[in-house]
Amino acid sequence: MALNIIIGTQWGDEGKGRVVDLLAAQADYVARYNGGDNAGHTVTVGEKTFKLHLIPSGVIHPHTIGVIGNGLVVNPAVLLQEIEMLRALGVDIHPERLKISHAAHLITPGHLALDAAREQARGAGKIGTTLRGIGPAYNHKAERSGLRVEAMLHPEEFEHAIYAHIEDVNQHLEKLYNAAPLDARKEAQIYTNYAAQIAPYIANTSALLHNALQNNTTVLAEGAQGTLLDLDHGTYPYVTSSNPTAPGAFVGLGLGANHLGRVVGVTKAFQTRVGEGPFPTETEGTTASQLRGTGANPWDEFGTTTGRPRRVGWLDGVLLRYALHINGVTELTITKLDVLSGLGTLKICTGYRSGENIYADLPLGPTDLNYEPAYEELPGWGENIMGTRRWDNLPAAAQYYIQRIEALCDIPVTMISVGPEREQIIQR
Ligand code: IMP
Repeated sequence: MALNIIIGTQWGDEGKGRVVDLLAAQADYVARYNGGDNAGHTVTVGEKTFKLHLIPSGVIHPHTIGVIGNGLVVNPAVLLQEIEMLRALGVDIHPERLKISHAAHLITPGHLALDAAREQARGAGKIGTTLRGIGPAYNHKAERSGLRVEAMLHPEEFEHAIYAHIEDVNQHLEKLYNAAPLDARKEAQIYTNYAAQIAPYIANTSALLHNALQNNTTVLAEGAQGTLLDLDHGTYPYVTSSNPTAPGAFVGLGLGANHLGRVVGVTKAFQTRVGEGPFPTETEGTTASQLRGTGANPWDEFGTTTGRPRRVGWLDGVLLRYALHINGVTELTITKLDVLSGLGTLKICTGYRSGENIYADLPLGPTDLNYEPAYEELPGWGENIMGTRRWDNLPAAAQYYIQRIEALCDIPVTMISVGPEREQIIQR
């Protein structure tokens, strides 16, 4: 039994939620290890659509125990709302089923205000953050002035700590950004109230998962965001402030590497990005409209967290190869293959051109994307494949598209999703 990790190979929104949902059926623990409520994981089960931002999406399976690891930044208001939302949809969440690391950090209204003020101050150079306070909370963590979840176990000191933290943030808001201050006393009271509700969920999740793995259980680590948003390995500075890549799971859960099993990479059949930053294979016009959808369906390309329309483009094989290498991916899942039906000729970026040179790999990685993508064109298919469940029944051109990805990246594609429902998946 092992630690299996699911990661996104692109800029997030690869459809990891549905792959987690599938693999969680065989997992005992489902754990988030990075980010916060900037993530958006959508899982559709029958009539019900679950949109989760913070709680691991695998908890939808009643036999699992959900873990929020030390690598996260947790907004307690969002956490409590999500617990209520899950209960309302019939998912029983209680302190025996959800464990929150004592060493995770808290997001406060101070972080939300700083996120907004800093984005505004960046002007044209803005990152396009989700405005969930993620960067400022990790900033305080790295600066060693953050508030850890364990502080909630001591209500009186906690109230003082929140008060002092908000007062400190107010200095920055007022003096650096000319922004309105927050009411420190009010926020301290609200957070003390949250502390009472969250305390029963707080645990040493590193020890919990370590013991579980020693006892032959399976832990599924759910990466949030994607490889190209990784603070170290993504398109810096247009990245998030955590490590969504597979090695982030060890640090973000407090586990060693000895239990590693599968590393499942999830890749959308095309490329999307929400927020600012380079996107060499971005496309516009009718192809983009078809890839994006209208927004009428929950699975159309509009941000789960922000509602922003996503930028869309052709699959980037160069960046995909890079992501497989950074994560040590052992198998690939391709999602949303059905969306390519009826597009006509398809393209995959197989190299980057600079003058006479074509690079198969980027010399300096994805921070240096000042090249022209070189494309390979592939035949498209017209058939609707949303009802297809077997590889043999896919149109030849759809099979070829997948086989080209396998050949270009030297990796097996073990699952292909052809629609948002749980069963709309082809296993190979
Ligand atoms: P932050 O994580 O809110 O600081 O945002 C930093 C960048 O990461 C922005 O471009 C966001 O749009 C992007 N981002 C953060 N979380 C997600 C996600 O779950 N999916 C896709 N993009 C994300």
